[in-house]
Amino acid sequence: MDVIARLRAAGCVFAEDEARLLTDAATTSAELDVLVARRVEGIPLEHLLGWAEFRGARMAVAPGVFVPRRRTEFLAEQAIALTRPGQIVVDLCCGCGAVGASIAAEIDVEVHAADIEPAAVACARRNLPDGHVHQGDLYAALPPSLRGRVDVLVSNVPYVPTDRIAMMPPEARAHEPHSALDGGPDGLDFQRRVAAEAPDWLAPGGHLLVETSVEQSPESLSIFETAGLTARLQRCADREATIVLGRHDRG
Ligand SMILES: C[S@@+](CC[C@H](N)C(=O)[O-])C[C@H]1O[C@@H](n2cnc3c(N)ncnc32)[C@H](O)[C@@H]1O
Repeated sequence: MDVIARLRAAGCVFAEDEARLLTDAATTSAELDVLVARRVEGIPLEHLLGWAEFRGARMAVAPGVFVPRRRTEFLAEQAIALTRPGQIVVDLCCGCGAVGASIAAEIDVEVHAADIEPAAVACARRNLPDGHVHQGDLYAALPPSLRGRVDVLVSNVPYVPTDRIAMMPPEARAHEPHSALDGGPDGLDFQRRVAAEAPDWLAPGGHLLVETSVEQSPESLSIFETAGLTARLQRCADREATIVLGRHDRG
């Protein structure tokens, strides 16, 4: 069976595109055979290629690291719309750092990114060679000197409710770390933690942006308001993306 047919038989929707990318990535036919076999087993295409496309750029992504989603391009775009040159931007829960790298590629900013997983931090360092990448639990990873000075704080936190993880596609549930997906019983544990501490880190007039789901969005808004942020929702129907933006009005 040829590569396209093997991929199609395994249920790959974009079998032609995947076949072309895997063929380009392999240097020998034996290597291609291994790549196709691993893809047929369900390993994410991006983990096999070593990169994911995000807003037209290739972001390094390694096994064990969350693959940036197309819907998250909307979060990056909304952050870019709020960012001015020379500002301080933080990408918290950065994974491979795609959001922070995408902002830094368009605007000259001081960018910091942080994640708890060493594999994610290693990828983010590759994608943000001129940024500051930190490892640790949420804000504990950041230099204390950033307190009260962050202009744009963007955070695609884990937000899948724990009991929904079993319903996710096998690619995500079997090949992405649980810690990248699990947002606790209602999926909002990390949003609560990130929003509660955001006013300590944001500059006056600074913004917090997080991705959420349509169902979770009323509670996400209320979490932001409880934290003292002036909150609103933005939605992109094409990419099925919903984000909450919160402004820190108090100095
Ligand atoms: C949904 S993924 C998003 C990754 C990246 N921002 C993106 O959009 O591709 C969530 C990320 O949060 C990280 N994470 C989970 N718990 C964390 C914690 N306590 N502190 C910092 N990062 C954490 C995971 O390692 C994962 O990379």
